[in-house]
Amino acid sequence: MSEQETIVWHQHTVTKASRAALKQQKPAVLWFTGLSGAGKSTIAGALEGKLAELGYHTYLLDGDNVRHGLCRDLGFSQQDRRENIRRIGELAALMVDAGLIVLTAFISPHRSERDLVRHMLPEGEFIEVFVNTDLAVCEARDPKGLYQRARRGEITQFTGIDSVYEAPLNPDIDLPAGEETLDQLVQRCLEALHQRGIVATS
Ligand code: ADX
Repeated sequence: MSEQETIVWHQHTVTKASRAALKQQKPAVLWFTGLSGAGKSTIAGALEGKLAELGYHTYLLDGDNVRHGLCRDLGFSQQDRRENIRRIGELAALMVDAGLIVLTAFISPHRSERDLVRHMLPEGEFIEVFVNTDLAVCEARDPKGLYQRARRGEITQFTGIDSVYEAPLNPDIDLPAGEETLDQLVQRCLEALHQRGIVATS
């Protein structure tokens, strides 16, 4: 008998529905994906601020921060990125179970991993947000100087330079983040959340 077969799921008294009801909200994950420097953390942070102002209970999981703790043992190989996203997916699913609106900001470069997370959640609770900023714009911004270092060969396996980024084929929200202002982008997200019955106003 494998270890998995000897571990039985325990159904607790307080349910996802009752936790969400206490918070008077519909839990979901807004999964921001895009290149480094695309604006994922900035947009997710501004949206979270707006949601908090409107009275929603949220949590923002951010790649650079999570890699200091939960995922500090992981690097940027295909295998490590896959494990990074799997852990974040499981964590986000638990937070949704706690009744929260979760925002995540990870490059999450592979479609297969994003789909894996989508399937961890009930239909409609995984909202893929493509922070659609051209590589040239991200590279010109280069907020952490990492593109320059990647071009010089000091960092390898850098997304967009010598490691793949697979853009979403059919994202739930497609943000023209190289063109519009932060306010406009946040507004687009709020409208999409309103359409899905997650926020009352937009
Ligand atoms: S992911 O690919 O596994 O989803 P994640 O979002 O957690 O990546 O971390 C990306 C951040 O790590 C980038 O914003 C950047 O600051 C930093 N970083 C360091 N090395 C790399 C690399 N080789 N490729 C991409 N990002 C890197």
